[in-house]
Amino acid sequence: MKTDTGAAEPILILAIETSCDETSVAVVQDGCKVLSNIISSQIETHRAFGGVVPEVASRKHVEVITLVIEEALSAAGVRPQELSAVAVTQGPGLVGALLVGVVAAKSLALAWNKPLIGTHHIAGHIYANRLVKELKYPNMTLVVSGGHTELVHMEREGAFRIIGRTRDDAVGEAYDKVARALGFPYPGGPYVDRLAHEAEEAYPLPRVWLEPGSYDFSFSGLKSAVLNAVNQSKMKGLEPDTAGIARGFQESVVEVLVEKAVRAVREYRAEQLLLSGGVAANKGLREALTRRCAAEGIELIVPPPVYCTDNAAMIGAAAYVKWRHDGGIPLDMVADPGLPLEKWSVSAY
Ligand code: KG4
Ligand code: ZN
Repeated sequence: MKTDTGAAEPILILAIETSCDETSVAVVQDGCKVLSNIISSQIETHRAFGGVVPEVASRKHVEVITLVIEEALSAAGVRPQELSAVAVTQGPGLVGALLVGVVAAKSLALAWNKPLIGTHHIAGHIYANRLVKELKYPNMTLVVSGGHTELVHMEREGAFRIIGRTRDDAVGEAYDKVARALGFPYPGGPYVDRLAHEAEEAYPLPRVWLEPGSYDFSFSGLKSAVLNAVNQSKMKGLEPDTAGIARGFQESVVEVLVEKAVRAVREYRAEQLLLSGGVAANKGLREALTRRCAAEGIELIVPPPVYCTDNAAMIGAAAYVKWRHDGGIPLDMVADPGLPLEKWSVSAY
């Protein structure tokens, strides 16, 4: 749509994210400018249980969703009539948690007479990079979150192809389990990251490369090696060298992630390497990738931590791409906890 002056009218998307333990609502302009991004975290509630309890997550989303929507609109200074569309994370995620966002988004789309955009959570993590910089295609994304570890190739805008994935634990999941073994609360990734930087020496731990040429990952063996190291010390009546183990674990994870990501960039002639997901907040990974990409002449985009962990701004960025190509979807859309990324790729060019 054009204004009187001939300039294109801004596309304003209200985006809702409730797939796990953050209730977040954002207003994003043209898929790249964040006008507001409100995040209400439930971490303190779940910490007592040592992980996210799905029923508790759904209830907490219900309690705060209306407030978070109001706050996002008011912080953006946008009235509902001015919105172009309402977007929501359709999947993957916890079904009860997703449902809260989906029902809210459908109600708003209906009440305000706006198109509805069902959005893929991982596409959101990937497009968090668009909030930082213009993307070039083809590109490669290293997705490292609590539930996913994937290398995703995008030949064109919104065309996703997974070329490698974890065969067992996701990186964030491995971090959280290792953190628990080292005595830290949930979610333990940031504690392990911090402790790793305090160690003088790394405890020797294996690197899992899988078959030559494979872009897949495996972290469960490494996690078991950490648990063994902790238990062996305890059996000998010794205090485990927690800092050394944290550093050894982090170095093993980071080395494999960096090596495979760089190889994928080369093989697929990607113009950029994007980093996304909660573990992208990891200092060791950010530093190692930055150093390696600089040495190899690879353009790297690393979103700031607030756009790495779950947030609705990233959903608004991905929804914008989907909407430009495919438009809105019918209001009988349902939450889909197993929504495949590749199937969500845009269809119209
Ligand atoms: O993307 P995210 O917010 O939620 C999912 O969609 O899974 O990722 C959360 C994960 C948790 O496992 C958390 O421990 C991990 O990201 N994480 C970290 C760091 N910050 C968050 N892992 C390692 N180092 C960090 N600094
Ligand atoms: Zn996530």
